[in-house]
This record gives sequence, structure tokens and C-alpha cells, in this order.
Amino acid sequence: MSQWLHQRPLHNPLSDPYPLSPRNSMTFQFQRPMLLVLNRTTLLVLLSLLVVLGVILPWTGTPGFMFPNATSSLAKWRDYTLSQAASFVAKNGTIIVCAVSQPYLPFLNNWLISISRQKHQDQVLVIAEDYATLYKVNGRWPGHAVLVPPAPDSQTAHKFGSQGFFNFTSRRPRHLLHILELGYNVMYNDVDMVWLKDPFPYLQGDHDVYFTDDMAAVKPLDHSHDLPPPGKKGRTYICSCMIFLRPTDGSKLVMKKWIEELQAEPWSKAKKANDQPAFNWALNKTAGQVDLYLLPQSAFPTGGLYFKNQTWVEETKGKHVIIHNNYITGFEKKIKRFHDFGLWLVDDHNVESPLGKL
Ligand SMILES: *[C@@H]1O[C@H](CO)[C@@H](O)[C@H](O)[C@H]1NC(C)=O
Ligand SMILES: *[C@@H]1O[C@H](CO)[C@@H](O)[C@H](O)[C@H]1NC(C)=O
Ligand SMILES: *[C@@H]1O[C@H](CO)[C@@H](O)[C@H](O)[C@H]1NC(C)=O
Ligand SMILES: *[C@@H]1O[C@H](CO)[C@@H](O)[C@H](O)[C@H]1NC(C)=O
Ligand SMILES: *[C@@H]1O[C@H](CO)[C@@H](O)[C@H](O)[C@H]1NC(C)=O
Repeated sequence: MSQWLHQRPLHNPLSDPYPLSPRNSMTFQFQRPMLLVLNRTTLLVLLSLLVVLGVILPWTGTPGFMFPNATSSLAKWRDYTLSQAASFVAKNGTIIVCAVSQPYLPFLNNWLISISRQKHQDQVLVIAEDYATLYKVNGRWPGHAVLVPPAPDSQTAHKFGSQGFFNFTSRRPRHLLHILELGYNVMYNDVDMVWLKDPFPYLQGDHDVYFTDDMAAVKPLDHSHDLPPPGKKGRTYICSCMIFLRPTDGSKLVMKKWIEELQAEPWSKAKKANDQPAFNWALNKTAGQVDLYLLPQSAFPTGGLYFKNQTWVEETKGKHVIIHNNYITGFEKKIKRFHDFGLWLVDDHNVESPLGKL
């Protein structure tokens, strides 16, 4: 009996709250009250456990093991592959992708509202660059987010011009190449963009790669659709912010070249590069082998033009399709600018987002 009592604490940690229970003076008479105390203790401990599980865990966002289905869905989204996700969202063999991490969620929502207004939200696949984003998006909009492991270090990925930001954006051509190899057309967008119209009718012809110019200089309405001539730095200023690709050898070649260029010219403190120059060199080096198509400036203006030249905006009224909030850095400044131009939709129109209010 005494052996049983001494071993019990080892097997049942629930009796630990009273490690100084009167073992020494223990006689047979003590057994029943002792067991009662243990039972009460056990009950108390179980109760507090329930309180902890019920109150604290939901706040930490990991109630998974309480609800078998929630557990299996977390596991499911962790294991969800790009191939499964792409086949889930694709319509007409086409998917719309962005790549975001948690700080960008408000921009993601804003972009999604504008896409929902053009009725293309079903085709959107969010490439989550951290697990918080993966779970958040799939929790509210099942199947529309995927994470391609390994997740980059989210602490260092956000500051424009930093090495972390460079590492983060370097994943983009890999994601796009992967999707092309699965056989889909892919429309890539940065999420600091807003759709005012459906861009798909503008993707005319059967070209390999469609893109927009990031130069702010005004062009004639009937400008050429060829790759523009190189600028001051010997290369073009094509934006890596919006790219449409057909799953052809040509587009895959551009993505492979882009990856190569990023490796050949890694980030350095002095240059603080982002991924855009590498994309431009990739276009420059593959131009002879690939069918490239420059989209019209009036429909896809850079932020350096749209937000800075009111005269031009008036002149081209009704022609704008996607607006890019670039030529400005900092989340707060971007949000304020969207606000000022009536393009910040998340405050008043979040019901239109498949993610709701974030
Ligand atoms: C758990 O999920 C499966 C499929 O998703 C469903 O069939 C089942 O009813 C769910 N079980 C509970 C207890 O909700
Ligand atoms: C798919 O293609 C058809 C025919 O071109 C078009 O009418 C339809 O709107 C397209 N659907 C989507 C979701 O783009
Ligand atoms: C960026 O990637 C390089 C090469 O993979 C790695 O050595 C470096 O630690 C990464 N830096 C950050 C800030 O993520
Ligand atoms: C590629 O860049 C070089 C160097 O700036 C330039 O001479 C050449 O014209 C460019 N080629 C194309 C197709 O733009
Ligand atoms: C602004 O747009 C007008 C109209 O297109 C154009 O004539 C003018 O050169 C532009 N201004 C600048 C600074 O680019």
C-alpha cells in the first residue's frame, strides 16, 4: 500500500500540488480522506486546465488540439502544395497571384476588394510568406493561400532596400516558374495595387510575357508594345510589380534568367537592390528569343505618373485599369496616398472582401 502511495506521484503528476502530504505519519485510517483530497485536487486541476484551454489558448491562436477538425485543417494548410492550390483556384487555366507576409495584410485586403469588384477573386491565390498569413487567409477563405517552404525569416523581410526584403522578393520568380511548369497562365500583382477595371481584355494576342513600364515620362497613347530602349543605367525600367505570363518556353526562360540574374548580382549594402533590375536584365538578355508585350501606359500607369500628374490623369480619364501605389515608401504614406485618391477601400468596403474585416 505504502509503495503504491509513494509511486503514485510519479505516475500522476496531478497530485503534485501537495508534495508535503502527510506520508510519514500515514496509517491505514488516512487512506480514505487522502483519496478524497486527491480527488478534489484532481477536480480543481482539471477545472483550471479547462479554464486555461477555454480562455487562454483561443487568444494565442492555437486551439488546434481541442478541436480535431481545426487541428487537421492547420495540418492540411501546412501541407497544402502549390500544385493543389493552383488547381483549386484556376479558372480557364489562369490564376492571379500575389506573395505577401503579415504586415501587408491590409494591402492584400484592399487589392482583393478591387479584384472582387471585377469578379475575379475566385482565381486569386495568395502565396503566404509566413505561417500567420497562411492560417489567417485559409481560415477565412479556405484554399486561397499556400506557403512554399521554407518560409523566409519574417522578422527581416519588410524594410524596402534591406537584405531581408531582397531575399523575400527573390522568391517571386521561383514561385512564378513553378506555376508555369504546372501549366497555368499566371497574373502576378504586388498588393499595393488597385484594379479599376478588368485587366484581362488588355492581355491581347498570344505573347509570352506582358508587363508595364515603371517610367513616369508621358508616352503617346499609341506607343509601341515592344520592350522600350534601355534608360540611363543601360537597362529598361519595366516594373516587376505586374506581370502576366503564359506557360510557354519563352516565359519560363525569362523566369529562369531572372533567377540567374538575382544570383549573379546578390544584395549588397552599397546597392540595396530589389528584384526589379534583375528582371530587367532578364528581359534584356532574352528579348531575342521571347515574345514580349508592353501594356499601354494609359491603362497601367506607374505611381510616379498617376499620383503626380493630375493633368495626365484628366487627359486619360476612363482608361485606367490597374493603379500601382509606388514611387513612395512606407506603409503609412502609401495608405494615406490611397486614402487621398479614394483608393483605400478597406475601411468602408471590407464586406466586399472575401477575407472580411481584418
Ligand atoms: C470534421 O471535418 C470533416 C470533413 O471536413 C467532416 O466530415 C466532419 O463532420 C467534421 N467533424 C466534426 C466533429 O465537425
Ligand atoms: C473564361 O473564358 C470565357 C471565354 O473566354 C469567358 O467568357 C469567361 O469570363 C472566363 N472566365 C473567367 C473567370 O475569366
Ligand atoms: C538572405 O539570404 C542569404 C543567402 O541565402 C542569407 O545568407 C542571409 O542571411 C539572408 N538574410 C536575411 C536578412 O534574411
Ligand atoms: C540590352 O542592354 C544593352 C546594354 O544596355 C543594350 O545595348 C541593348 O540594346 C539591350 N537590348 C535590348 C533588346 O534591349
Ligand atoms: C503631365 O502630363 C501632361 C499631359 O499628358 C504632360 O504634357 C506633361 O509633360 C506631364 N508633366 C510631367 C512633369 O511629366
